[in-house]
Amino acid sequence: MDQDGALGEVRASGLRGRGGAAFPAGVKWGFLAGNPDPNKYILCNCEEGDPGAFNDRGIMESDPATVIEGITIAGYACRANRGYIFIRHGHSQPIDRTRAIIEQAYELGLLGQNILGTDFSFDMEVALTGDSYVSGEETALMEAIEGKRSMPRFRPPFPAQVGLFGKPSNINNVKTLAYVPEIIARGGEWFAGIGINGSSGTAILCLTGAITYPGMVEVPLGMTLRQVLFDMAGGVPNGKQMKLLQTGGPLGGVLSASDTNLDLVLDFDVFRNAGAILGSGGIIIADEDTCAVDLTRNLIAFCQYESCGKCFPCRMGMSHLLEILERISNLQGTEEDLTLMRSIGENMQAGSLCGHGQLGFNPVSSALRYFGDEFEAHIREKRHTGYCPEQVFSPRLTRR
Ligand SMILES: Cc1cc2nc3c(=O)[nH]c(=O)nc-3n(C[C@H](O)[C@H](O)[C@H](O)COP(=O)(O)O)c2cc1C
Ligand code: SF4
Repeated sequence: MDQDGALGEVRASGLRGRGGAAFPAGVKWGFLAGNPDPNKYILCNCEEGDPGAFNDRGIMESDPATVIEGITIAGYACRANRGYIFIRHGHSQPIDRTRAIIEQAYELGLLGQNILGTDFSFDMEVALTGDSYVSGEETALMEAIEGKRSMPRFRPPFPAQVGLFGKPSNINNVKTLAYVPEIIARGGEWFAGIGINGSSGTAILCLTGAITYPGMVEVPLGMTLRQVLFDMAGGVPNGKQMKLLQTGGPLGGVLSASDTNLDLVLDFDVFRNAGAILGSGGIIIADEDTCAVDLTRNLIAFCQYESCGKCFPCRMGMSHLLEILERISNLQGTEEDLTLMRSIGENMQAGSLCGHGQLGFNPVSSALRYFGDEFEAHIREKRHTGYCPEQVFSPRLTRR
């Protein structure tokens, strides 16, 4: 298959990025393929800092060869000459296994100069993150590979024009690239035939929290949440009721486990419309004992701790949100606090440099949408609505 043919199959597959934004991979590859620069990079994002997500790591531990093949195909289709796999510092098993497979691929002539006797040459190496959530953001990741402090860059220019080391670059999530070898082998149409509407292929989900069978599952997009959480994962243990779901990582959303939401189908657009995102596939399940306000406080504590501090709407906005949520959790919130949070959230969304600040209000807005009555109970009736620990757990106390 020639390079345009490979790109055409990925386009035809309808494959959308699994790193969070669900952007069509074929379209993104097309930006890079069209750039005539002789030095271009393919980056694979295995930073995976979302609490509750471990599918990228699972893939890199169990089948790094498939991902390496996917990156090499991306390099071929985009006429790039070097790939980087960016893995979270400290995830030693994926790091060691990936490095070992890259070495074997060089020995077998599957990487390096003139791969399989063709005129296509492609090199690959592993680069490590600095144990920071924001280093998973695509431009912060490039800064980290370049050996700098990993903070997001201003855009434009976009990575397809000016990326790693100032060269045109394409970045995809591990899962996105892991689908590629099979798409090329079976054809884009085969992949497009799995799934629903504009969401083709499968969802690789990580189920954690109050669930009978936690772990990683791969299911066709289009299944309902109810089928996954009850039929496959056995529902909530110990006879408790399912209360809420936290999906798509800390920048995702908080969904109530209502009948309507449990009937939602796994589809990028359906989830976004419900106020959550499918994101990287993490679903944290909470039972009736969980307090929606406390959970929201916890999510914002994570986001505040991880804000890189480069721009003030996020740096200050996250701190203000956390202060207010701690106040509400301690039953000291006021009526104005809800309006104040919305105003801070709007400013963060409009003024932040990267997705961390732009999406950082999502946990609060979605929690208010589904559990507004619990916020009001804390503020008006000075009443807890679940387990609100006196000891306030936050990443400041629990990490490092
Ligand atoms: C704060 C922040 C953290 C992110 N962390 C990750 C991550 O750990 N893994 C990932 O694939 N994408 C992450 N992303 C999204 C990336 O910026 C980028 O969109 C993604 O790697 C593109 O891959 P895809 O097109 O295959 O989805 C993050 C974005 C933000 C704003
Ligand atoms: S939005 Fe937050 S994480 Fe992103 S650059 Fe600004 S301060 Fe850093």
